[in-house]
Amino acid sequence: MECLIYPTAEELSRHAATRVALTVRTIPDAVLALPTGNTPLGMYREMRGQAAAGNLDLSRARLFALDEFWPLPAGHGGTFAAFLRRNLIDHVRVGAFDHLHSDAPDPVAECDRYAAAIAAAGGIDLAVLGIGRNGHIGYNEPGVAPTRDCLCVDLEEGTRKAAREYFPGFEPPSRGLTMGLRLILSARSVMLMASGTDKAAIIAQAFGGPVTLDVPASLLQQHPDVTIMQDVAAAAEYPCTGR
Ligand code: PGA
Repeated sequence: MECLIYPTAEELSRHAATRVALTVRTIPDAVLALPTGNTPLGMYREMRGQAAAGNLDLSRARLFALDEFWPLPAGHGGTFAAFLRRNLIDHVRVGAFDHLHSDAPDPVAECDRYAAAIAAAGGIDLAVLGIGRNGHIGYNEPGVAPTRDCLCVDLEEGTRKAAREYFPGFEPPSRGLTMGLRLILSARSVMLMASGTDKAAIIAQAFGGPVTLDVPASLLQQHPDVTIMQDVAAAAEYPCTGR
């Protein structure tokens, strides 16, 4: 496990974007799993800038959204697909973009479709993750089965509260669709970003504590190629020592 600390969230965002750029320089048609949330906003801004400057080429990359609310009408501004379009995909040329359909009538069938699409693309080269205050990655909430590639989950109240913060005036659904822990752990490379003091405690639990399904991110300790990228505020209780 590699653990990197940056002095500011801006520096973290810039290096995260550069890491994505390096991935697609090495593997132009890389399969990327991409997150939604406050944490990656700066990374997407940097990615737009790097693409405009000719330093990031996603024109052959295959992009897959990590998770999604369910149910919500397609095209609703609160969907993670809309978030990714607003922040990245509407601004840069990408090879392909797929996402979990928030309006799918049958979430299990939709998960099967999505897992099959990712498998057909050759699996995930780089999974870019945030971390929830409860330790979720994607929408794999504490206690969720680690044996699924994609699943429909009940969202914890704290998760919905956090979503209200970045989608003001929006009442999030009580369920979500997400790439499962098995699929995330099968990614060839994983990069987890955390910024701000409100992530410090969960980062310490996830990476300084035992591997437990109660803290889904802790399962990443068993992955052979994980990079934790945090700003100093998030690193306050887990300053990467001994790693
Ligand atoms: P945040 O969400 O970036 O808005 O804190 C992270 C997550 O829930 O994965």
